[in-house]
Amino acid sequence: MNKYNKIATLVGVWALSSSAAMAGPADDTLVLNEETEMVTRTAAPAHLSDVMDEVISGWHFRGVETRAMQADDFDNPGMIFVEQAQEAWDTADGSEGKSCASCHDGTESMAGVKAVYPKWNEAAGAVRTLEMQINDCRETRMGAEAWDYTGGTMQNMVALIASVSRGMPVNVAIDGPAQSTWEQGKELYYTRTGQLEMSCANCHEDNYGNMIRADHLSQGQINGFPVYRLKNTKLNSVHARFKGCVRDTRAETYKPGSPEFIALELYVASRGNGLSVEGPSIRN
Ligand code: HEC
Ligand code: HEC
Repeated sequence: MNKYNKIATLVGVWALSSSAAMAGPADDTLVLNEETEMVTRTAAPAHLSDVMDEVISGWHFRGVETRAMQADDFDNPGMIFVEQAQEAWDTADGSEGKSCASCHDGTESMAGVKAVYPKWNEAAGAVRTLEMQINDCRETRMGAEAWDYTGGTMQNMVALIASVSRGMPVNVAIDGPAQSTWEQGKELYYTRTGQLEMSCANCHEDNYGNMIRADHLSQGQINGFPVYRLKNTKLNSVHARFKGCVRDTRAETYKPGSPEFIALELYVASRGNGLSVEGPSIRN
């Protein structure tokens, strides 16, 4: 039995097919605001050389209208949330009476940051996601309460920080002190879970370009996060997406912010090394 039949027969609800019209990524170029040409397809990073030649942004797997929406900031609904975060950036909060701007000046100071997260933090002795770093600033430097990991306020801020890196190549470090976390993430990526006994790789490495139910399967890249989804009209975090995908295999899932999802995020981010940062992007 080939893998498509296996997936289709495991559970009746999953129908996987490749139709000529929809197979493969759309042949298109993403130019942001008629100005910045984004790298949405590029040679796979060295660590993937055994499994694929090219890495492709999820943007190529969406329809014409969705792709167009992301190309212009006035049409991108995710940018409304970026504006809201701009206000939060300048607003003092917590016992120290400080705002993000008190220490970091303008948001342009964050250019390049999203491209290298998750990142090893020496003082913490751990890999940190952007959400963890933001909450560390809030709790230890502002004397303010941590924001909910996948909540709107946090994801707005992540989108703001992503937005000033758009067009820069994702470049997360996978060696040195981050290596063991990266390896843990890789292991999770290839582990089959749930009643469907499927791994991330079964869908996003073996079957990208094919249709699964009504959805065009992408490589499951995270260079576009946070993602504004037309389906729920809000910004969605990386970990919320992971949770949804794990649940779709009918498995118990990890919690957003858990060590497992942090490791998985580092690994998945590294599969997109070389693609442009796109967040906030638009998806179904
Ligand atoms: C009292 C000063 C202070 C405030 C207020 C503050 N930060 Fe920070 N922030 C720092 C310092 C210092 C670092 C470097 C810390 C480190 O590397 O561990 C940092 C690091 C960061 C980084 C990581 C940058 C990198 O290059 O890795 C991000 C992202 C960040 N802060 C976001 C925020 C946000 C968002 C806010 C507001 C919610 C905020 N910070 C408020 C002092 C502050
Ligand atoms: C049964 C198939 C299946 C499995 C297994 C699966 N996914 Fe997905 N995933 C999907 C579908 C369908 C979508 C929506 C279409 C798309 O963007 O590929 C999606 C979307 C995503 C996206 C959003 C991509 C974007 O550009 O917005 C990410 C990230 C992702 N998956 C990661 C994962 C990870 C990590 C795992 C393993 C824990 C996983 N997926 C397992 C089917 C799957």
